[in-house]
Amino acid sequence: MKDLKFNRHRRLRGSANIRAMVRETGLYKEDFIYPIFVVEGENVKQEISSMPGVFHFSMDRLGEELDEVVDLGIPSVILFGVPNDKDAVGSEAYHDHAITQEAIRFAKERHPDLVVIADTCLCQYTDHGHCGVIEDGVILNDESLDLLARTAVSQAKAGADIIAPSNMMDGFVAAIRYGLDQAGFQHIPIMSYAVKYASAYYGPFREAAHSTPQFGDRKTYQMDPANRLEALREAASDVEEGADYLMVKPALSYLDVVREVRDNFDLPIVAYNVSGEYAMVKAAALNGWVDEEKIVLETLLSMKRAGADIIMSYHAKDAVRWLEGK
Ligand code: PBG
Ligand code: ZN
Repeated sequence: MKDLKFNRHRRLRGSANIRAMVRETGLYKEDFIYPIFVVEGENVKQEISSMPGVFHFSMDRLGEELDEVVDLGIPSVILFGVPNDKDAVGSEAYHDHAITQEAIRFAKERHPDLVVIADTCLCQYTDHGHCGVIEDGVILNDESLDLLARTAVSQAKAGADIIAPSNMMDGFVAAIRYGLDQAGFQHIPIMSYAVKYASAYYGPFREAAHSTPQFGDRKTYQMDPANRLEALREAASDVEEGADYLMVKPALSYLDVVREVRDNFDLPIVAYNVSGEYAMVKAAALNGWVDEEKIVLETLLSMKRAGADIIMSYHAKDAVRWLEGK
């Protein structure tokens, strides 16, 4: 064995401090966006059955959740309003006093420094549950753009700091950018769900947001999970159209795509650690099969390592508590 030649990688792993000094990536409270579901009614704080630890809040209970997020030092939330009234054209999406707009207004009044993000889509607001308007069972593209732009403008008027369109119609960034600019919101950034796959990982969210499509699926507008190059085309279009952030969604099964988008574009990259990813980890943790804290932090760290700058996650509050030893 005397002349055996090999490299000693363990030299850099010898103690906690040595490891800390050579660590390449990290998780910080500033990395997170926390999603919150807001429903109509009074005194509602109801756990979403497939997402233990995540709740539906009515407006009068929203304050306590926002306070908790702010106290933890999480800089941002994304608000998902779940309206009672739905119709074919998603009127509640772009009504100035609908649930999402009121929730945005409330959040900004209570915490002016909190970065409030609005998800801009139609599926929670349409009776058919699709992200655009429909004719003879077909999801129409250009006819949906005007409604999406109106939704974004109405959310900006309510005080949203960032518009995050998730609908996957072609041209949605261009239409929303134009709409915002025309309405005097040139300064409001667009966080585009640029690379969004047609994924089974959205299942629990659709239960939470009551947004399951009533017929068919989303495969004519969301991406095929088999495709990688298409992600680059989607991202390139959104950059051209004026996106300020690029999101990849889901995150965990698409970390290769996060890396690909990171390496090809210079905008901030957001990874959405979606509802099904959360549900899987929670189910295993509640069974005592995995160590929740370690699994969650390792999972979130993998998204940073893949190249994400920002992580949207239902684990955000827990993760920050663990990171800060609270
Ligand atoms: C709305 C929207 C969805 C999610 C975020 N915005 C659902 C969908 O596209 O079906 C999913 C988020 C999650 O699963 O956590 N278009
Ligand atoms: Zn949608």
